[in-house]
Amino acid sequence: MSSLKILYSPEDIRKRLQELASEIHDVYDNRPFTAVVVLKGAIFFAADLMRLLSNPIDLHFVELETHEHPDLEQEISIRYWSRDFDIKDRDVLIIEDILDTGVTLEFLIRAFEQHGARSIRVCCLLEKPARRRVNIQADFVGFVVPEVFIVGYGLHHKGRFRNLPYLAELVQEGEKA
Ligand code: IMP
Ligand code: MG
Repeated sequence: MSSLKILYSPEDIRKRLQELASEIHDVYDNRPFTAVVVLKGAIFFAADLMRLLSNPIDLHFVELETHEHPDLEQEISIRYWSRDFDIKDRDVLIIEDILDTGVTLEFLIRAFEQHGARSIRVCCLLEKPARRRVNIQADFVGFVVPEVFIVGYGLHHKGRFRNLPYLAELVQEGEKA
């Protein structure tokens, strides 16, 4: 059995995104940049955020694959790049759902440096500082959250809950998920 405890309503999210958009304008002004949205979790966040920005935005996507090896570090690879992916000499804003251990973003930042990005910044909907394993900081963060499992507004559990319009804690009662 599990239940959902709403943490941020659609209205909370809308308000925070307006603030984030203004933080992003403060940094980029009205200069163009390349947004790289990390599929699938960041799609709703990115779509709503980008519509609040007046910058010319070149939009790309990546989707990652994580292989878990027992007793080894997890291995991450990029399984999908959007067509004509090109970030050489571009100012890149990575749009991600959640910064948790930081391993995913560290991997992406390295990969994009190798692709010749001029600058790389990170915008995350959520940040869980408690579980950080690598020294990665996001430039823009929607909400700082405690160490609970969160679903909705793009985030899933076993493929469910992505399309909820709010962010909720998935509370497991009794049995293991
Ligand atoms: P990390 O920073 O490399 O640990 O990876 C973060 C990734 O873990 C995110 O992109 C999510 O896919 C997943 N993740 C971490 N915490 C949660 C959560 O609370 N809900 C849903 N997915 C999560
Ligand atoms: Mg993610």
